[in-house]
Amino acid sequence: MSGKISIAIDGPASAGKSTVAKILAKELDYIYVDTGAMYRAITLASLEQQVDPSDEVKLTELVHHLTISFEQGTDGQLVFLNGRDITEAIRQPDVTNLVSQVSAHKGIRLELVKQQRQLALRGGIVMDGRDIGTAVLPQAEVKIFLVASVNERADRRYKENLSKGIMTDYESLKAEIEARDHKDSTRKNSPLIQAEDAVRLDTTGLSINEVVESIKKVIKTKVN
Ligand code: DC
Repeated sequence: MSGKISIAIDGPASAGKSTVAKILAKELDYIYVDTGAMYRAITLASLEQQVDPSDEVKLTELVHHLTISFEQGTDGQLVFLNGRDITEAIRQPDVTNLVSQVSAHKGIRLELVKQQRQLALRGGIVMDGRDIGTAVLPQAEVKIFLVASVNERADRRYKENLSKGIMTDYESLKAEIEARDHKDSTRKNSPLIQAEDAVRLDTTGLSINEVVESIKKVIKTKVN
């Protein structure tokens, strides 16, 4: 492929965005930016520093004192908050259950979107999130909107947890995913919606490889 482009991958929770984004970035030798991890990092900080998640002013002030960075580790990408490795901590249920509330604040989004655009300046980027194609990189050459049924997404999360030795209740997982979808899609600031020029891909029943291949086809048609 000649010239490095920007690829935006949006969609609801657990639709497989980060899995395919990572594979694509590796194959294309692009940089992968997990914007959800950035909102999770702020959520972790608010929990640790006991900042009320509904207090937008205090949270926005907090964001200005935090530096989020990414580094490539041997087992995948690592996330750092003010130099501390928070890769595992931001995946814990306390963060997951609070992140939609924290990420709904305008002040937080303004600051993180600024940082995300900075990371994408030079192109050669695969960025995943909820508002990448609509708000962060509206000029992205390729926009994908990944969806999958709630049952399938809960099922994938259930198996993923099991492989890590974590026992979870399937029905609770499903309820949590539905609650997060609802909050992310109905918030006032940059809600989760498909960009007009995004290609919608339903991954229900598809393997990771099939999803990656479909996206590669989209990239080919958009770039040529
Ligand atoms: O992709 P994820 O599940 O790690 O994202 C965590 C939360 O962060 C998600 O529920 C909504 C929020 N988010 C967002 O508002 N905008 C983004 N670009 C990425 C994530």
